[in-house]
Amino acid sequence: MAGRDVVIDPWGSAQSTDYSRIIEQFGLSSMDSVSLPQPSRLHRRGIVFAHRELETVLDAQRQGDSFGVLTGLMPSGQMHMGHSMVIDQVKWFQQLGGDVTIAVADLESQATRGVSLEKGRRIALEEYISHYAALGLDPEKTNVYFQSSRPIVQRLGFQLGKRTNLNEFESIYGFNGETNLAHVQAPLVQVGDILHPQTDEYGGLRPIVVPVGVDQDPHLRLTRGLASKTNWFNVNDGNSSGVVITLSVQDDNAEVLGQLPNGRLDKERLNAVFAGIVECLEHLGYSDIMSNPKQGTVRVPSATSKDKSKIRMKLLDYERSLGGMGLLAPSSTYHHFAVGLTGEKMSSSKPKTTLFLGDDISVVEKKIKRAFSGGQSTVEEHRRLGGNPDIDVAYRYMMYFFEDDDSFLAEINADYRSGKILAGEMKQMCIERATSWLGELHEMRDQTAHLVEEFLASDAR
Ligand code: TRP
Repeated sequence: MAGRDVVIDPWGSAQSTDYSRIIEQFGLSSMDSVSLPQPSRLHRRGIVFAHRELETVLDAQRQGDSFGVLTGLMPSGQMHMGHSMVIDQVKWFQQLGGDVTIAVADLESQATRGVSLEKGRRIALEEYISHYAALGLDPEKTNVYFQSSRPIVQRLGFQLGKRTNLNEFESIYGFNGETNLAHVQAPLVQVGDILHPQTDEYGGLRPIVVPVGVDQDPHLRLTRGLASKTNWFNVNDGNSSGVVITLSVQDDNAEVLGQLPNGRLDKERLNAVFAGIVECLEHLGYSDIMSNPKQGTVRVPSATSKDKSKIRMKLLDYERSLGGMGLLAPSSTYHHFAVGLTGEKMSSSKPKTTLFLGDDISVVEKKIKRAFSGGQSTVEEHRRLGGNPDIDVAYRYMMYFFEDDDSFLAEINADYRSGKILAGEMKQMCIERATSWLGELHEMRDQTAHLVEEFLASDAR
C-alpha cells in the first residue's frame, strides 16, 4: 500500500490512531473473527480491536488449562483513566481463570524518566496497586513484582539479547547511535517481564496474554521474535497438507540434537531425539506419524493448521526436558486509546487531558465541563444539524468508562446526532456517571487499602 509507514514509539508523545493501518502494517489480527466468552464492555464496543494469537489463550481457557496474564506499569506519574482500561481487561481474564502477574517497570522508569527506584516503588504502591485493589483485582490471584528485584527477568533479557542486534532495534524502535544504552536495555528487560511467567519457577509452560495499548506492540514483536528464535523445534504447515516438524539446530543445542562439533552426526542421539518427538505426537493421539531423522523431518498428515499450537506446546515441554528454554511466544490484545479530555492525546504530564483516578470529584466536574465537545456552536444550530458523538469527549468517556448499558448508549448516540440532546446535557450525563463511578472507586480504595500488601510477590515485600 502506498503512503508513509506508521512508526510506533513506545516512549514518544505522538500517537497514531490509524488503527486499520496499524493492523495491516504490523500484521495484527482483527478481533472481529474472535468469539469470546462473556465479552466485556471494551470488547462489545470494539475498543479492544486487535490481537496476536489470542486463540491459544482462549483454547486453554475453554479446556480448563491454565493460562497467565501479564501487564506492567511504568511508575512515573499518577494513574489515569487510560491506564484503567488495561486493568479492566486483566480483571476480565482473571475472572476467566487466568493467573495475573504485574511488572512494576521501575528499571524502565529510572532509565527513561529519571525516577529513582525508591520513588518508583512509592508511586507504584500508592498510585497504581492501591487503585488495582479498588478496581477489583483479586489479590489472591495477582502477583506484583519489581523489575529491579527479580533476577530471572534481567537474566532472560540478557540471554535473549544474544538473538537480536542494533539493526533490529533501529528498525523496531528507531534507535540510532545517540541512543542511551539504558534505553536499549529497557526493552530487553520487558522481554524478560513478558516471558518469565512461563518459566518453571514462575508457573510453568502455559500461554500468557499481554493486554496493551498499541504503543507497546514493538515490545511484543521483539519478544515474540526472540522467543521463536530460541525454539528447538519448528512446527509448520506441510506443503499440501498436514504438519511438519523440523529441528532448529543452534550453537547451544547442536550437541544435544546429535550434531557433533566435528560436523559428524551422532546418529544414536539424533534417533533418540526423533523418537522423543514421535512420543510427544503419540501422546496427542496421532497415529500417522512419519519420522525421518535422515531427512530431518517428522510429518503428521492428519494434523491441521489448527493443531499446530498444541503440538508446539508439547514440543516446548520436550525441549525443556532436553535442557532448552522452551519459550512460547506471548499472545497479546490491543485497545484503542481513549481520547484526551481536550481532544488531544491523553497524557499524565498534561493533567487537563485526563481524569486521574485520584482526582477530587469537584475537579472531575470542572474537567468534564471544559471537555472537547462534538456539539454545534449555538443551540439553534445544534437542534438543526445535530452533534457528533464520535468526537464528543463526554459521550466517549461514558462509552469507554462509565456507562455499562449498551442500549442506553445507542439511544443517546442517536439523540445526540439528531440534535435532541444538547452538548451541555451530554456533559451533565457524563458528570453524573463519572462522579458516582469515581466516588465509589475512592470508597473502595479506602476499603481495600489493607490488601495492597497482599498483591506483592514475596520478592517485592
Ligand atoms: N513499558 C510499559 C509502559 O511504558 C511498562 C511495562 C513494563 C510493561 N513491562 C511490561 C507493559 C510488560 C506490558 C508488559 O507502560
